[in-house]
Amino acid sequence: MKNILVTGGAGYIGSHTVVQLIEKGYAPIILDDFRNSHETVIRELETITGKKVPVIAVDVCDKKEVAAALEGMQIEGVIHFAAYKAVGESVTNPLQYYRNNIESLVTILDWSVRNKVTNFIFSSSCTIYGEPEGVKEVTEGTQPGIVRSPYGQTKVIGEQILTDVKKSGAPLNMLALRYFNPIGAHPSGLIGELPIGKPNNLLPFITQTAVGIQPELTVFGSDYPTPDGTCIRDYIHVMDIADAHVQGLHFLETTPLQDVEFINIGTGKGTSVLELIRTFENVSGQAVPWKFGEKRHGDVAEIYANPAKSKKLLNWSTKYTTEDAVRDAWRWELNIRR
Ligand code: WQD
Repeated sequence: MKNILVTGGAGYIGSHTVVQLIEKGYAPIILDDFRNSHETVIRELETITGKKVPVIAVDVCDKKEVAAALEGMQIEGVIHFAAYKAVGESVTNPLQYYRNNIESLVTILDWSVRNKVTNFIFSSSCTIYGEPEGVKEVTEGTQPGIVRSPYGQTKVIGEQILTDVKKSGAPLNMLALRYFNPIGAHPSGLIGELPIGKPNNLLPFITQTAVGIQPELTVFGSDYPTPDGTCIRDYIHVMDIADAHVQGLHFLETTPLQDVEFINIGTGKGTSVLELIRTFENVSGQAVPWKFGEKRHGDVAEIYANPAKSKKLLNWSTKYTTEDAVRDAWRWELNIRR
């Protein structure tokens, strides 16, 4: 079995990817210091997969600790998720974001090159597109607009680092997967998104409002140039994102690349804030108290993926609907409140 090192593997997208890697016959090894995730996730992963998942609990920025912990291990591939990802927090704590998100990538890339790892997948984000001028559906070649948050900048810089490492002749096959808006949870209800404190993202805020943790949802802005005046995003089930990583590994194992490949991971469908609220209420049968509020700084009116490249290169397309994701997110919310 191929050992795949999954940094941040106890996190939201990381943990769902670990499940799918095991399903497809890989041997994932989690490298996570649980600063942004819970150790209970490991037990749930073993319940879901029936497999013991090895965990290396070290700081992925610590070159010495990483080298010591991985000494002598045969690692065929690396998926690097470990990073801070709260846009708002990155604006108030830019240095924490630059240090952690850049240093972790440099450390694990350096280790990978020294240890002759072949396949490397970087967790990137649609945030790198910023506010593309007058473009709603983005392809990988879309000229990015202004990227306002330090979080987004760390992903722009991260992609540049991969490009420069490739140009240096390092024998690494590399993919950067640009996720759109991850939502939902594993259908078992045993793992899902665990926002720390008040959720920044829309769907966790909806489900927390529906269970009464949050008193009311504020819809940020009602007069955007969209059909119902609220922002449109490409919400994609986290299980589909997890599958994209397994397909990405297979692609790298079978395709020697001259350059880094950058691939959008989205559904290709836009959904407005009000549409997502309505979908939640229809699926859950639970009303969500909400009101309109001020626009949130940095929000773009409408952005969604053109998924053609992911279909062509990864032989991957989404299998889950928005309804599936909302249903799975609601089941997860109810489970963690029990
Ligand atoms: C979606 C829409 C809000 C909360 C972010 C990151 C991106 C990626 C996904 C990591 C927007 C509106 C939200 C609320 C609201 N993460 N909203 N009330 O901002 O598109 O993307 O998460 O890679 O990098 O930027 O997602 O869920 O925060 O917002 O009206 O209480 O919901 O204004 O229009 P976003 P989001």
